[in-house]
Order: sequence, then C-alpha cells, then structure tokens
Amino acid sequence: MSLRGIVMLGFFMATIVVSALQAEAKSKMQKQSFGKTEDGQQVDLYILTNHHGMEAAITNYGGTVVTLKVPDRNGKIDDVVLGYDRLDDYAAGKAYFGAIVGRYANRIAHAKFTLDGTTYTLPKNDGDNHLHGGFNKRVWTAKDVSSSNGKALELTYLSKDGEEGFPGNLSVKVVYTLSDQNELKIDYSATTDKDTVLNLTNHCYFNLAGQGSGDILQHQLMIRADRITPVDANLIPTGELRSVKGTPFDFTTSTAIGARIDQDDQQLKLGRGYDHNWVLNSGSAGSLSLAAQAYEPHSGRVLEVSTTQPGLQFYTGNFLDGIRGKQGKVYNRRYAFCLETQHFPDSPNHPDFPSTVLKPGQHFQSTTVYKFSTR
Ligand code: BGC
Repeated sequence: MSLRGIVMLGFFMATIVVSALQAEAKSKMQKQSFGKTEDGQQVDLYILTNHHGMEAAITNYGGTVVTLKVPDRNGKIDDVVLGYDRLDDYAAGKAYFGAIVGRYANRIAHAKFTLDGTTYTLPKNDGDNHLHGGFNKRVWTAKDVSSSNGKALELTYLSKDGEEGFPGNLSVKVVYTLSDQNELKIDYSATTDKDTVLNLTNHCYFNLAGQGSGDILQHQLMIRADRITPVDANLIPTGELRSVKGTPFDFTTSTAIGARIDQDDQQLKLGRGYDHNWVLNSGSAGSLSLAAQAYEPHSGRVLEVSTTQPGLQFYTGNFLDGIRGKQGKVYNRRYAFCLETQHFPDSPNHPDFPSTVLKPGQHFQSTTVYKFSTR
C-alpha cells in the first residue's frame, strides 16, 4: 500500500473510533453530582434525554424528578415541574416536589392501622394523621438500565422492618424510563418478608405552561372517573364512593381546572380546592389505562396519565404559599397540580377499598406513564 493509502486508512479508522466514542457518550446517561446529604452521603443527578429534545433530570435523593423539559407546540422547551435547584432545599422541603412517595402515599387516619391483629403506630406528620412517609428523603441506589426502549434509571431502596412503624423489610424498585414517544414511564415493584401495607406514587407538581409561570386554573383537565372518595375535615375518606355527576368534581369531559374551584361546595372547602382521590373507571384490574389528560392552551402542551392503579389524587397546590423554587421562581397557591396515581387514601383502615396489603411471596408491581404531546 502506498504511503498515501496508509495515511488515508489510518484517518478512516480514527474517524470510526471517534464516532463510536461519540455515539457511546451520547447513548450513556449523563450523571453529575447533586451534593451531599447532612450525614455525608453522595447524591447524584441523572439526565435522561430522548430524540425529541425532552429531558428528565432525576436525583437518587428521594427518586425525585428535579426538572422535566418538554417542547411546546412551537418546539420551545420549558421545564414543566416545580422543584428546587439545591439538595438542601429538598432535604428541608415539605411539599414532596417530584419525589417518590412511600411507604404509604397519602393519609392514614390517626397514624394507625391494624394488620393480622397487630396495631401499628406511625409518626403523625399531618395533624393527627400520617401523610406520605419518608421515601422522598432517602438516598436510593441508582443504576443506568437504558435499553432500546429509552434511557432508564433504576432506583432501589430497602425500607427496614419497623422503619416509620411499618412492618416488614420492604425491597422497593422504581424504574424511570424516558422513551422517544415523549413518555416518562415509572415502574414500581416491591417485595416484603412480613405482611405489610404499601402505597407508592410520584409527586410531580405540573405546570404545563412552565414551572413558576403562574397559576394552573386555565389548564383543561379530564379525569376518567365517575366517583370520588369524599373526605372529612382531616382529609380522610369517609368511606363513601360518591358520584361526581352535577358536582364541581365532574371532569369526565375536559373542563378548566379553575372553572368551578371556588364554588360553594363542602368538599372543595374541606380541601381548600381539589385535594381528593378519584376512583378511576378502569378499576383495580391492574391493566394500563388512561386515567387523566391535561391541556394547557397557550403552550399547546398535553399531558396524558395512564396507570395500572385504581385511584388518582388530583391536588391543586392549595398549600403552596410562596415557596422559592428553581431559577428564583416563587410558587404561590395553585401554581401547579399533581396527578398522583395510587391506591385510595387510608385504605388500611377501609376494608372495602382495594387492598394495599403485601405479603411475603407476593410481588407488588405498578406502572404509571406521563406522556407529553402538543396540539
Ligand atoms: C396531598 C396534599 C398535601 C400535598 C403535600 C398531596 O398529595 O393530597 O394534601 O398538602 O400532598 O404534602
């Protein structure tokens, strides 16, 4: 081979190596430090990207979605979830921004339940109730499990027997996958070594016009549910499954969130707005079904929520009170909404509700998909 030929071949091979390295760098999930917890544990931020410019930044502190960047109808990207810039603010915060919530998401009345004849007492962190548990403030073990289905982050956590008063060593796994169909899929699974109860959800606060950009009252919402579980003054379900027909809780056809939120309605007054569990029409069959759809008219962004869970807590950020969040934005009342897929609140004290009991040998599994599009 001539010298020119050798040089050309060398150049050609170097180009192949460089592009292979570039492709690998691109396909690898980016990881950066998010700081250290007070007790010195390293926490990271994982950046999941797809081919449509969508990006989810998730930290293994609480399995929290820190940012979720989504294109609008003109391709402009905005971050559509509330949160903080700094780990310390998550550690001090009380709003559960973007976090994985457990061991029992939502309220347990009087912070007590009885299982197999034993009464378990939990910390009271919401008046007389137990609310949401502490998974949002734990450091989870993270692993990049990306595949042809998209970038995926696996988070695992062992909740020890007796942690926060719950029985059983509970091994929890949560996998976040960002697909090229602009879906953020969350797969939850868990096993236990003693009978226990669990309710897992994600607590993203959405504002499809962009985080911190104002209230969410003009978003149009549809919820595929004919009934809610009405609550008492402590936001605990009374046990009734009440029809939404003729009430401000009827979102069976798409309606602006703000259209009826201040109506003279006892349930709205108790929640200071919407803060209730909708009984999804899909029931507890466990197959993935559309639960809700939100549309924001100015950006054109649409969020569709599908789940295998029987309930959906729709919460309109009624307790946001001027929290300073990301990029110096201030979050006031009703600046975001949550669509928390879950089992019904206080199920351990309502034998008629779908069961939240998990026994040794059983494998808990649930899936929720947040899919974004525009119109
Ligand atoms: C609850 C609200 C609570 C919020 C933050 C929501 O899931 O329904 O009542 O204020 O979480 O804890």
